[in-house]
Amino acid sequence: MFMKFKKGSATILSVALVLGLATVPSALPAYAESLGNTSNEISKITATFYGDTTSSKGFTWYTSKVFTGSTVQVTKKTSSNADFTNAIEFEGTSSLSTNSGEELVHKAVATGLEANTTYYYRVGDKERGTWSETGTFLTAPKSGEFTFIDIADTQAKSEDEAILSAETLEKALQTVDNAQFVVHNGDIVDTGTKEEQWNWLLGHSQESLLNTTIVPSAGNHEDENYAFYEHFNINAPAGSATETGAYYSYDYSNTHFIVLNSNEDSEKYANFSEDQVEWLKKDAIAAKKAGAKWIIVNIHKGPYTTSNHASDDDIMNDNGVRNQIAPLMAELDIDFVMQGHDHIYARTKPIAQDGKATTPSKVTETLNGETIEYSVDPDGSIYIIPATAGPKVYYKNPSEKLGDSYYNLFERAEENHAAPYGPDPNDDRRPKRSQIQNFVGITVDGNKLTAVTYEIDQSKYDAKPYIVDQFGIIKQDAETPPTSVEPTVSLKDISGHWAKSAIEAGVAAGYISGYSDQSFKPNAKINRAEFISMLGRALQMNETTISLTFTDSKNIPSWATSYISQAVEAEIISGYTDGTFRADKQLNRSEITTWMVRAAKLKVNTKAPLSFSDKNSIPTWAVPYVATAVEEGLVTGVSQNRFAPELMVTRAEAAAFISKLLKVTN
Ligand SMILES: [Fe+2]
Ligand SMILES: [Fe+2]
Repeated sequence: MFMKFKKGSATILSVALVLGLATVPSALPAYAESLGNTSNEISKITATFYGDTTSSKGFTWYTSKVFTGSTVQVTKKTSSNADFTNAIEFEGTSSLSTNSGEELVHKAVATGLEANTTYYYRVGDKERGTWSETGTFLTAPKSGEFTFIDIADTQAKSEDEAILSAETLEKALQTVDNAQFVVHNGDIVDTGTKEEQWNWLLGHSQESLLNTTIVPSAGNHEDENYAFYEHFNINAPAGSATETGAYYSYDYSNTHFIVLNSNEDSEKYANFSEDQVEWLKKDAIAAKKAGAKWIIVNIHKGPYTTSNHASDDDIMNDNGVRNQIAPLMAELDIDFVMQGHDHIYARTKPIAQDGKATTPSKVTETLNGETIEYSVDPDGSIYIIPATAGPKVYYKNPSEKLGDSYYNLFERAEENHAAPYGPDPNDDRRPKRSQIQNFVGITVDGNKLTAVTYEIDQSKYDAKPYIVDQFGIIKQDAETPPTSVEPTVSLKDISGHWAKSAIEAGVAAGYISGYSDQSFKPNAKINRAEFISMLGRALQMNETTISLTFTDSKNIPSWATSYISQAVEAEIISGYTDGTFRADKQLNRSEITTWMVRAAKLKVNTKAPLSFSDKNSIPTWAVPYVATAVEEGLVTGVSQNRFAPELMVTRAEAAAFISKLLKVTN
């Protein structure tokens, strides 16, 4: 534990921890006198994602300068008692805290862990035999459903306020009890350079933090002194600046998470360096290419909020976040953006690259006894701000600079829920402080994202959380792109199929993944979006940021957009003369042959002869491509010396075509 408890209290807490019982911070013994730099206990322990979330975990903790050893011990949780006798050990490093020269910051990474497994852990100084309380963590599953919590702005100005923020976190973990990690959208403390505030916040949250993984983004209240970076073990890109915070990303099941640092600055981008924006583009494109179904961003100073900061210069100016970063979110096909900084609850409609809201079709279901609406394949990114998990709140922004058209971008843009309690006695510019807190539980299950927003009102229902909003997103895509290249995947419906070896070659090379039920559906017809995605993965085409201009681009499933953009840029496809792409249209042999000749960059031989009995039914535009493909061995005819130009292609045939294409091009 962080706090120097009397022995008895510590024992009670360990027992409570082992039994999984909740402890209420406000009921803890007074220990304020022990908070501070001189504690010789192990404090401020956090577990974070570091590297592959299925097999590793990062840890940070603080000690006085006496404890120079940095070891983390982990052991699989097989019983209700942690036994570290045969634990695996990982050695870390320590350095002096920039904030407080009297403390050492220790960091270590556990690696080689098993996916989807709960471990016990403790951190400490092995030589001195001093260990922390026992914590638990879960490694990410390789696939499948998962749930996490989103909170923001726990920033406490006093220890009492830190207790309030810690209670929100604890209630969130009790309410969303299957949450595998907690995303924090920044402003963790009020003054990041004051180590005391980290002691308060992380100290009072220690029981919670010992048993979850935290995924923080840096807020402007911790933008100096390496204060953010030192408190969390984060795998920031090599060479990136970390004094103001850190940007990083990670995969979790079928989702790619990008955490931005809005404490940087450049002429081109308010709040962001050019390096960071370039990294963002590359990172998102690579994630799509690797098969991420969802991309979710965590940003502190986001573009679409409804309070004080919505009309700030760094958001509204030409180089501001709304004009520069928001369009990029839509362009990069980012599904969902979680923001902090503005201390009010709001969420948007899907916002497209042009800054306009779009109107997706909706599916309605019942959840928690209430109606929940899912946006189906929305065009654009949906933004949320989960208000605050701490004390500070703002009124809704009345600035004329924003106006109705701005608020029309939102599904929820009401006045602050704390407003009915009147102005804060100490600051009448703001609603009553410490009255209302919020958090969001978010579940990603295959192609469905469900978010439920909870509120705590200190004057209602014994300050127990209740639901104030729920919404979701559905992706109606057909095929699950591969989440990773796993040559060992075995598909259940290809044994004995004539194209088995071509399909298996595609699985081994990572461009075929099949459906989530391990089937490939070899005899089903393939559509244009599916084929281009398969082709794009097979050819590993160059990354592109060009955006699609087809008149029906909004009907292109998100998992296919980057491949289709690449194929357009490579001049493999161009769409129909009426400007449409028709993503879900099935593909015939003439079309596929044409695309393959272009993909193989073969010189089209306009004079190559054709001897198929049905050569006169091949469309004129396809004739030279078919002739070239036959000449180069890319395609052969079907039975009775026919080419069958209009015959729709099955998924098995597509796999065979691509396998042949790779042989021809290699
Ligand atoms: Fe804040
Ligand atoms: Fe902020």
